[in-house]
Amino acid sequence: MRALIIGASGQVGGALSSLCVRRRIEVYGAAPDGKGFLYADLTAPETVRAAFGKARPDLVLLASAFTNVDGCERDPGLARRVNAGGAALTAEECRKTGAKLVYFSTEYVFDGKTGPYGEDDPVSPISVYGRTKLEGERACLEVPGALSVRTTVVYSHDPASRNFVMQLISSQRAGARMRVPSDQYSNPTYAPELAAAVLDLVEKGASGVFNVVGPDRLSRYEFALKACAAFGFDPAFLEPKRTSELGQLAPRPLEAGLKTDKLASVLGRRLPPAEQSLGRIAAMLKQYD
Ligand SMILES: NC(=O)c1ccc[n+]([C@@H]2O[C@H](COP(=O)([O-])OP(=O)(O)OC[C@H]3O[C@@H](n4cnc5c(N)ncnc54)[C@H](OP(=O)(O)O)[C@@H]3O)[C@@H](O)[C@H]2O)c1
Repeated sequence: MRALIIGASGQVGGALSSLCVRRRIEVYGAAPDGKGFLYADLTAPETVRAAFGKARPDLVLLASAFTNVDGCERDPGLARRVNAGGAALTAEECRKTGAKLVYFSTEYVFDGKTGPYGEDDPVSPISVYGRTKLEGERACLEVPGALSVRTTVVYSHDPASRNFVMQLISSQRAGARMRVPSDQYSNPTYAPELAAAVLDLVEKGASGVFNVVGPDRLSRYEFALKACAAFGFDPAFLEPKRTSELGQLAPRPLEAGLKTDKLASVLGRRLPPAEQSLGRIAAMLKQYD
């Protein structure tokens, strides 16, 4: 199998790349400014077509997006071009070439009033990010056999990433205080486990929408406390705040989170609990830092 990962320079793309290599899948990574990968900018159709031409993939993992939720609110035009237009363009190339398409979607397709959500619950995004990602998901699901993986609060030990756990580690090390929402509930998801579940779903021929998230539904503050416990940090630097106090530009789904019964029924397992994944990061912190 030949896989093309669009967004290989990102957190999820990086986890997918490492796992493909370990599973001996021939893998091509693409990123918007090359960065040692194939050049593919989702706003420049010819670059995406060229990446398909070079990789000739059987499997396309679309892990690229304009992921800054407040940034999307500030620049909805760019958000639509990348998240919706870029997905439609990728879908078109997959339809032409017959490649299997995996799209990375989000719990932000929901309004966060009645979570946790199942795959068939009605969507109702409340932010530009959520709306444009939903447009992208819909374009991708039109490709026969496509899989859309909805995930959330993805974290990993990735010094290049601004993921929540890396922000927590850098705040603690800098002796800075960290304001953490106490009323945003969702399921933190460890990137390497997300990657493993997605490749397993592909192996099983899964298609349609699948929630792939960690098993613990936690507020961001509860998750931060678990991370501090795993890393041996005194949590006194954390400041729990209500979302309304944080001045975030884009509205957030508060009572969110995703159910993983469908994932469990197909794979026969859920992702490991947060303590276990945070423990893996704690071991890396001891080893490398
Ligand atoms: N992280 C989460 O908590 C989360 C939650 C739900 C869903 N998701 C979805 O999961 C996917 C991966 O997320 P992530 O955490 O890996 O995000 P990330 O670390 O921000 O990576 C995003 C990737 O998209 C690339 N990208 C940005 N603009 C692009 C463009 N115009 N053309 C091509 N590529 C572009 C980035 O390239 P550069 O490296 O050059 O910036 C990077 O490779 C995204 O689709 C995201 O919507 C993530």
